[in-house]
Amino acid sequence: MTHPLIIASSILASDFSKLGQEVTDVLKAGADWIHIDIMDGHFVPNITFGPDVIKAIRPLTDAIFDAHLMIAPCDLYIEAFSKAGCDIITVHAEAGPHLHRSLQLIRAVGKKAGVSLNPATPEHILEYMLDDIDLILVMSVNPGFGGHDFIPQSLKKIRRIRDMIGNRPIDLEVDGGITADNVRQIAEAGANVYVAGSAIYKGGNPKIYASRISAIRKAATKAGGSVKW
Ligand code: DX5
Ligand code: ZN
Repeated sequence: MTHPLIIASSILASDFSKLGQEVTDVLKAGADWIHIDIMDGHFVPNITFGPDVIKAIRPLTDAIFDAHLMIAPCDLYIEAFSKAGCDIITVHAEAGPHLHRSLQLIRAVGKKAGVSLNPATPEHILEYMLDDIDLILVMSVNPGFGGHDFIPQSLKKIRRIRDMIGNRPIDLEVDGGITADNVRQIAEAGANVYVAGSAIYKGGNPKIYASRISAIRKAATKAGGSVKW
């Protein structure tokens, strides 16, 4: 099983006063997916946006909308995020007692089902869920904010999850503190989807988005050959 190398640009670090333009610019600059962080001020200590904001930017592009739900409970909102135009809906394993039900709901609305793990959550909780998962998102910072440093212990978890995935068609995504300097090790550990917020948007100059994205892509590609995603 081979997976493409994907750069998912997190709009959390973008300039919200021109969100639509920021989405268009980053895709033009070479980003593959738009990563959308949904926070509720309850599961995480920050609040972002809801389905209506996603609905507003959906007509701008056909690119994959990768929604990262940092909300609890999450089941109540899966249909709304699906209708808003998300392609992948990722819930946190810590967001409630019935992860399997959440995954079933996401697939039932025809979307790809993702599970995210906080830094302290061990990977073995996914062991019996693997046939119901399309994407695993390893949080490499504590969720809630952009611009934090990558937690190095995440590399071990990524390696273990890559082994656990084996030949299954599951993408392995990493989120938090990714830069052109550390993405190679993350790729070598076995991740194929890299979320980048500050590493692309910091400073808000669209003219340098392309060079930043290509630096991340080039560094991750260097891991190619040593890993089978
Ligand atoms: C944090 C979010 C991330 C965030 C990453 O809770 O899930 O997607 O945007 O931002 P950076 O790349 O700045 O660490
Ligand atoms: Zn995220």
